[in-house]
Amino acid sequence: MVSRVIPVDTFDFVLFGATGDLAKRKILPSLFHRFQIGQFDDSCRIIGASRSQMDQAAFRAYVHDALKEFGQLEATGTSDVQPFLELLDYASVDAKVENGWNDLNALMRPDTIRAFYLSVAPSLFGDIASRLKTSGIADKNSRIVVEKPFGHDLASAQKLNTALRAHFTENQIYRIDHYLGKETVQNLMALRFANNLWEPLWNSHHIDHVQITVAESIGVAGRGGYYDKSGAMRDMVQNHLMQLLCLTAMEPPSKFTPNAVRDEKLKVISALEPVSADNIVRGQYRASSAGDDSYLDHAGDPTSRTESFVAMKVDVSNWRWAGTPFYLRTGKCLRARESEIAVHFRKPPHNIFADDQDQDELEPNMLIIRLQPDEGITLRTTIKDPGPGGMRLTAANLDMTFAESLPDQGRTQDAYERLIMDVIRGNQTLFMRGDEVEAAWAWADPIIHSWAESSQKPQSYDQGGSGPDDSLLLMHRDNRRWRTIKA
Ligand code: BG6
Repeated sequence: MVSRVIPVDTFDFVLFGATGDLAKRKILPSLFHRFQIGQFDDSCRIIGASRSQMDQAAFRAYVHDALKEFGQLEATGTSDVQPFLELLDYASVDAKVENGWNDLNALMRPDTIRAFYLSVAPSLFGDIASRLKTSGIADKNSRIVVEKPFGHDLASAQKLNTALRAHFTENQIYRIDHYLGKETVQNLMALRFANNLWEPLWNSHHIDHVQITVAESIGVAGRGGYYDKSGAMRDMVQNHLMQLLCLTAMEPPSKFTPNAVRDEKLKVISALEPVSADNIVRGQYRASSAGDDSYLDHAGDPTSRTESFVAMKVDVSNWRWAGTPFYLRTGKCLRARESEIAVHFRKPPHNIFADDQDQDELEPNMLIIRLQPDEGITLRTTIKDPGPGGMRLTAANLDMTFAESLPDQGRTQDAYERLIMDVIRGNQTLFMRGDEVEAAWAWADPIIHSWAESSQKPQSYDQGGSGPDDSLLLMHRDNRRWRTIKA
């Protein structure tokens, strides 16, 4: 069973920052894969736009190289990229100067969906939005797509929203959080809202706590300049982990429509309690004994206090979740690249096996939603240990790895493939609304400010582990423990 491909309408896709890293690694390969699979045809046009001076042929050669490097051509059995290259055009534009915008305008076709993807620094969002509008390139059906980071605090996010909304309406603005395009993240919504099994249990009466982990094994080498101004809180928690928390905690929307879903997510963010200093741990990885660089080796500032790890306990103050904390953690240079949401249920209220087996404690059930690697779902249940000898109990996994349960799905789609096609379809469900982003910053800002004012440094932690010791204590003091990050 191969996934069904529903073709999208003809479009002109303008990629600003076309020669940048994200364009090369993700956006262009994603467009290529969707073309290969037949989701759009040769009536569509992809126009690279950046300050670099190059012509159409040079841009095509550049994209060809990018596809060879990042397009997984072997895995997809594709050697002929020429038909895709034929869709490409190029315009040299500079957000700060007038020149070039007429050339770009001349490439646009009437009565065609226009999508403008801004893979550029946020400081250019306003200028580009304005040029697109004033030069008549953007019309009322156009879509503008912006990458994260969407600001670095509430005030800057508000400014960006104002700059974009001066030229585009909210339903033309697509703020990307690529976590929302991940298969399992969407599956979380299917799991919760297309099954009757979970909803009666999905609350503080039955759930003891939830752990959300986004662990990475890589460090910040190569992006230290950006990262040091950001840190794990801005880079991961305010957006990716916040989205995972929202989708886990939100009320069922009445429909799977953009605003119904986003209204519910916004309510979760608005219900978050401020996080006090004793409920948060930040860390910074140190050099390893094997000679791997420390965080500070790449930060560009030997005294930097920027965190490469955060763990925190978060309370969602509403009827559903009062008394059920959410523990979040994310960090660089940890033992493995492993992301999951683990829902820990409460223990059964009474143990009928206690006398028989000297078994005072029954293991609570746990539902684990794995984002990466091995996307899938595991339900940890207690069963009888097979064989004679009485009622010995043991915990076993009901396991569903998507790759095994749904074979023949072919290559796993990159999150960007889905998100870009959603832009063309005009579906904003998997994109962040302006008020959502602002609410997330309003929650994150006080934490970041308190660190800036504090004289405390982040705790240093070993590479290849699970973060600073204090992050373990955050759990231990509540008689809980983090799930192991497995190598
Ligand atoms: C990005 C962050 O948004 O997400 C990176 O800027 C991080 O620091 C990346 O490495 C993680 O994404 P993924 O899809 O590899 O989990």
